Amino acid sequence: MTMTKAEDQTIDALLDAEQARFLNDHPRSAAAWQKGQQHYLFGGPSHWMRRWAGGFPIYVESAQGARLQDIDGRAYVDFCLGDTGAMCGHTPAPVLRAAHMQLARGTTMMLPTEDSLWVGEELTRRFGLPYWTLTTSATDANRGAIRIARMITGRRKVLVFSGCYHGGVEEAHVELRDGKVGLRNMIHPNGVDHGAVSKVVEFNDLEALEKGLAEGDVACVLMEPIMTNFGMIPPLEGFHAAVRDMTRRTGSVLVIDETHTLSSGPGGYTALHGLEPDILVAGKAIAGGIPAALFGLTREIAERVWKLVPRVNPRIRQSAHLGIGGTLAGNALTVATMRAVLSEVLTPANYEIMIGLASRLAEDARVIISAHQLPWHVTQVGARAEIMFMPSPPKSGADVIAGRRANLETLLHAFYINEGILVTPFHTMFLMCPATEAADVARHADVFERFVKLLRKASVV
Ligand SMILES: Cc1ncc(COP(=O)(O)O)c(C=O)c1O
Repeated sequence: MTMTKAEDQTIDALLDAEQARFLNDHPRSAAAWQKGQQHYLFGGPSHWMRRWAGGFPIYVESAQGARLQDIDGRAYVDFCLGDTGAMCGHTPAPVLRAAHMQLARGTTMMLPTEDSLWVGEELTRRFGLPYWTLTTSATDANRGAIRIARMITGRRKVLVFSGCYHGGVEEAHVELRDGKVGLRNMIHPNGVDHGAVSKVVEFNDLEALEKGLAEGDVACVLMEPIMTNFGMIPPLEGFHAAVRDMTRRTGSVLVIDETHTLSSGPGGYTALHGLEPDILVAGKAIAGGIPAALFGLTREIAERVWKLVPRVNPRIRQSAHLGIGGTLAGNALTVATMRAVLSEVLTPANYEIMIGLASRLAEDARVIISAHQLPWHVTQVGARAEIMFMPSPPKSGADVIAGRRANLETLLHAFYINEGILVTPFHTMFLMCPATEAADVARHADVFERFVKLLRKASVV
């Protein structure tokens, strides 16, 4: 939705005011951020940390459950939860216990522990796929899945949907703008010929997908079951069935990335909706905030891998490795904490609580939107909800590009943080953890309503 120049100027002025308030309220974080510039390429230990709407990040003193405290002594309700890495809540007791125990018994040995047997069995029970590999990040898991797809198909290209994000995966850094393939989200070119390794089509565009797959050069389709990284883009009725049918017919591997959609329930969106991926990827929260991720294969895909890389080989030390994973992948600490998460934290009972609270937050926001007759909507995926400044859910990345009000999002985020609410900095997504309370959700409704009133007073909406 386009805004008038005057509206944009008003929003910019409101943002300036919120950022001035933020600076005033966070002198210690401001000073820390200044100091960080001396030794970090982009000010903080990860360049992502500079993207908070206040103008610089708060520095964290401590985080517990769904609450966080910064070094300026200010407290927050945390709906960002480390952009999903902390979906179990900060330092959940079972993870803390498991980590303590395993830290005292050795963290990383290039050897399995017995916990891994329990974890493997549980992963199959939850997600339905029989053969698993652990990695240190979801980025790594996606890279592993892509490498395997290329190995078994002998094809080079990865097909993704415009607006996707799958981590630091070169093949997925592409998007469509005005029908042309480009690099996503201001990513700088790096000499890689993305056209040679990637294809990108709009989500829900079955015709374009059919065309892209018909050329017979796609090793895998890499997708989130509902897109969560460009605002939420839900699949249209029948989309998943058609994707599955087309990938089977054209011999492309279907990789479903559940890193965010694990919010749907204990077996992710896949189990909830009966999807049939060839490879399933999950990460972030899976070990309770300790870096870990995984990918699982169907028997059919595993057998194709074993044909190339035999499972049993008497001269195993000389056998080929897969060119994926890493030294720390599947280490004892991550396996112990993964066991704690799967047995005690991301349980059906806790999902029920989290999903109930997300429904409450979504409903409160809808009531406020409708009371003020605003052209906005809310989407929910299990324990995750998102407010978007568009009248109805987008069907594709192109819809998001056309309708997004990025400056309004930044203003909302700056307002939230000043009012003690954290949401993921990249869009307006709220995540519940088992420790989130009804009072936290009620607090959000109050802050969101005050934001709407601020906009009304400034005649921006
Ligand atoms: C769907 C999805 N897959 C993969 C990743 C990459 O995760 P990580 O940064 O933990 O490697 C992300 C990160 O946001 C994601 O949203």
